[in-house]
Amino acid sequence: MPTAVSLFTGCGGSDAGISKLGFKILMANDKLAYAKDVYQANHEETDYILDGVENLKSFPSAELLIGCYPCQGFSQGGTRDANKKINTLYLEFARALKIIKPKAFIVENVSGMIRSDFKHLLDDQVKKFTEAGYNVKYKILNASEYGVAQERKRIFIVGIGNQFHIEYAFPKPTHGVSDLLKPFRTIRDAISDLPEWPPENEYYNSDFHWYYLSRNRRRSWDEISKTIVANARHMPLHPVSPPLEKVKADVWQFSENRKARRFSYKEAARLQGFDNLIFPETEKFSLNMCCTVVGNAVPPPLFEAVASALPDIWD
Ligand SMILES: C[S@@+](CC[C@H](N)C(=O)[O-])C[C@H]1O[C@@H](n2cnc3c(N)ncnc32)[C@H](O)[C@@H]1O
Repeated sequence: MPTAVSLFTGCGGSDAGISKLGFKILMANDKLAYAKDVYQANHEETDYILDGVENLKSFPSAELLIGCYPCQGFSQGGTRDANKKINTLYLEFARALKIIKPKAFIVENVSGMIRSDFKHLLDDQVKKFTEAGYNVKYKILNASEYGVAQERKRIFIVGIGNQFHIEYAFPKPTHGVSDLLKPFRTIRDAISDLPEWPPENEYYNSDFHWYYLSRNRRRSWDEISKTIVANARHMPLHPVSPPLEKVKADVWQFSENRKARRFSYKEAARLQGFDNLIFPETEKFSLNMCCTVVGNAVPPPLFEAVASALPDIWD
């Protein structure tokens, strides 16, 4: 069984992906208490350290290191401040990389990192990881092309230890419109077995603010979902809601007078590609926390696809 260490683990989307490939995750880490609660309810065998990564002094040795440092500033919704301290957490990942010296590593982050105002940070990550002894490649992938019922573009940075003299090749899409591919997974495929009207405490059930209605937030059953975000209030609409029609620039309204609702956190987890994620009702449990950890996660099937394209360098 190849071994892995996971940093910026959250509730474990990336970890669920590599677990399916048979990796044993020796250690996980995050500073968000409810992320740990969810993770441990789903993967009880992993040692999950609840602390800031900067406080970790030692790491177990492992063959694969994975980590998805936070993305404030890179994301569309963020403040786009390239100099925010949070944007240098990759240096903590590089520190762990130098201590653990895994055979390979995988990083995921939002695609905005490739924009010109952040490119210097991306270039510095590639430089630091290359200096640590890895052959580094990066690419933006869309989760929908790997069997996830959601539009979600993310950048992946993958490194293979120089001693292997192998260049990583990103996996080819498995889902799409071509006859050679499987059809895209739709909202219906992902959630049609769940109740159309779940209990009201499972979704954000307040009015739709003007900002929410400044764009189309709805997709129908046979489409791919819009991106699942880490905020209950900004969650896309469930297809049971009436369609939205454009009134003018940045103003949309419901086309029929019937009830609309956002996706629930359980539906959001399915649309992220989790099989049946358990949300334990611990002290930190709340609708917002469930949406935060699910919206922050890497879709497990996407991470699995990226990890499965690594060469067989495990003992
Ligand atoms: C994009 S999310 C990671 C999602 C995760 N890979 C998954 O698939 O579920 C980034 C995570 O970094 C965590 N984080 C932010 N700053 C941190 C720090 N200083 N130390 C440890 N974790 C931190 C956040 O709490 C958040 O869960």
